[in-house]
Amino acid sequence: MGRISRSALAVDFVGGAVGYKLRSGAARSHALLKATGVSANRPLHVIDATAGLGRDSFLLASMGATVMLIERSPQVHALLAQGLEAARAESDEIAAIVARMTLIHGDARALLPTLQADVVTVDPMHPARTKTALVKQEMRLLREMVGADPDVADLMQAALVARCGRVVLKWPLRAEPLAGIRKPSYQIAGKTVRYDVFVNPRAPAEEALLRAGDLEFFRF
Ligand SMILES: C[S@@+](CC[C@H](N)C(=O)[O-])C[C@H]1O[C@@H](n2cnc3c(N)ncnc32)[C@H](O)[C@@H]1O
Repeated sequence: MGRISRSALAVDFVGGAVGYKLRSGAARSHALLKATGVSANRPLHVIDATAGLGRDSFLLASMGATVMLIERSPQVHALLAQGLEAARAESDEIAAIVARMTLIHGDARALLPTLQADVVTVDPMHPARTKTALVKQEMRLLREMVGADPDVADLMQAALVARCGRVVLKWPLRAEPLAGIRKPSYQIAGKTVRYDVFVNPRAPAEEALLRAGDLEFFRF
């Protein structure tokens, strides 16, 4: 297969799959919302430690969450900044969503100890699949730009000791758990990815909810 042009990668919060989810209301039943606990009635503060193309952050912000997006790649950070700017000009509805999103350039491993939130989300570049055709074109382009994320275990360690109620790791459905990381409190499976949810034992409200069975998820 020939080399794909990097310039084809763009952040688009208005058209494409992201815009469709917003217009169709499909966002409301997304597994990421269950995993994070974000809903229209529960507009939490989220740190997206691996902002990437910003789709997860936009989904959470469209449900009312206030989201801090951290991205360490200067190129991806620039694409995100452009995408947010373009979205802001699109409509009042989208501008209101973007107003809840704050973009930061930096490494989340260094920044997390200085921050506080209800939820930290981590979605590193996933291990390369053997069936490359299954990997979406966007993800292939992003991988060309930023490479793999070999330090994901360090990032997870930083997230797990951060001041937050829970950490949500997005990981391929059938991939082995990350080595050296404690077992998740529970897991939510999607079609191709799963969300490993790590409830912070220092967050009493979350623990009480789990004990009371108010969270409908499978627990380990
Ligand atoms: C798979 S993408 C995230 C996709 C994103 N969830 C979305 O919805 O578009 C992973 C991104 O995280 C970034 N990243 C990985 N480790 C990071 C770190 N320690 N700090 C900040 N950004 C990081 C990578 O540069 C890459 O852009």
